[in-house]
Amino acid sequence: SLLDAYEKTKQELTVTPEKLTEITNHFVSELNKGLSKTGGNIPMIPGWVMDYPTGQETGDYLAIDLGGTNLRVVKVSLLGDSKFTYEAEKYPIPVPMRTGKSEDLWNFIADSLDTFVKKHYGSRGSSMAKLPLGFTFSYPASQDAINEGVLQRWTKGFDIDGVEGENVVPLLQDAINVRNTPVEVVSLINDTTGTLVASKYCDPETIMGLIFGTGCNGAYYDVCNDIPKLEGRLPDDLLKENSPMAINCEYGAFDNEWAVLPRTKYDIQIDQESPRPGQQYYEKMIAGYYLGEVLRLILLDYYSQDLIFKDQNIKPLQVPFAMDTSFPSRIEQHSATFVEGLFLDSFNIKTTEEERNIIHDLCLLIGTRSARLSVCGIAAICKKRNYKAGHCASDGSVFNMYPHFKERAHEALNDIFQWNCDPKDYPITLIHAEDGSGVGAAVIACLTEKRLLANK
Ligand code: BG6
Ligand code: GLC
Repeated sequence: SLLDAYEKTKQELTVTPEKLTEITNHFVSELNKGLSKTGGNIPMIPGWVMDYPTGQETGDYLAIDLGGTNLRVVKVSLLGDSKFTYEAEKYPIPVPMRTGKSEDLWNFIADSLDTFVKKHYGSRGSSMAKLPLGFTFSYPASQDAINEGVLQRWTKGFDIDGVEGENVVPLLQDAINVRNTPVEVVSLINDTTGTLVASKYCDPETIMGLIFGTGCNGAYYDVCNDIPKLEGRLPDDLLKENSPMAINCEYGAFDNEWAVLPRTKYDIQIDQESPRPGQQYYEKMIAGYYLGEVLRLILLDYYSQDLIFKDQNIKPLQVPFAMDTSFPSRIEQHSATFVEGLFLDSFNIKTTEEERNIIHDLCLLIGTRSARLSVCGIAAICKKRNYKAGHCASDGSVFNMYPHFKERAHEALNDIFQWNCDPKDYPITLIHAEDGSGVGAAVIACLTEKRLLANK
């Protein structure tokens, strides 16, 4: 029966405290492997941010933030004393662009930037000195310096030919130059690194920057001496004992060997039908790009067994990614009755009361699994760096919109660390990082300028 099928799914999607601990322990060894000379699944990319912000950084900077769903252009004024102001404009990335042509992407970004500069700097535009810009590029990009980034591979469903293996900074700078926009790209950072640095600018207790959005990833500060793969790669002027180094983990790639993750047949199907099978196993179970798809595949499975939506034409639901994350997230937010209108309006599917209850409960399971598995990355960084307390600066649509994400994450952290205290006293907590990437890119651009000046 439908209920039996649901009970089986429930079991498959439930992550016990023991499993969380097992995953976390394996995660720690994978983080270390990523920093070793031979490397591993998790890229652990040194981000060349080698200073902690003090909160006293000042100046005006531009930032571009190319995330999963939007391009944002931001003008940030760092005022010192951990204060800043900013103005931002959001430009949705047209869906076909995700799998379109490389030049279309760079033209779109450069056009949006040019529009922004004209609007915010007016006619002074082309005659003024070049504005320094920090580029937040939220994909795995190898860096030998702060002002470059070679795309390793697209993630989050992006699949644009001719960019993997390329340094994206000149691709963007060339498109900017063609338009005579007075802007120079001075640094490239990941969104997690941006979130880390922006939050540390405001809150010294920040221990990591995390994104729970279209994708899932974290960044933290390590020390150069503990990063074997940096040996021989540090220019003399940067080589200091115990110099900090921000690491963009790219831990969405955790467990691509599939040693510990409790993957279901739905996760396996999502991977196999994705543009990059075999990659981002962890991310594909927990990140926003995939949560609606997990729900859809479960429902299709039940339908194929004649357990749900009996005798109905469900064609609209058979379209891949027909449900984005807002589906499970909105369903959980409302009572089961909400499912009736939603399925009727979106897919022309009628639901019985039992079906609605089960769909509602499935969303709860999917969201809970996401939050619980998501904290294994946090717990692993804490174990690795021996952090016993601190703030985990968090951003992204899943963190901000999915009901109960934070409470579920805290509960799972407690399952791993066994604090045995009131939840309000948990020593490691997730804190919302407001607009991390833009401000982080500005702070990093400022730190970069300072370092360049100091070395002159
Ligand atoms: C935004 C950050 O708030 O969240 C971006 O500024 C980040 O840098 C984004 O990429 C992630 O969320 P989503 O849900 O758009 O992937
Ligand atoms: C994906 C990207 C990573 C990014 C994360 C969150 O995992 O590979 O660079 O930080 O999504 O946006």
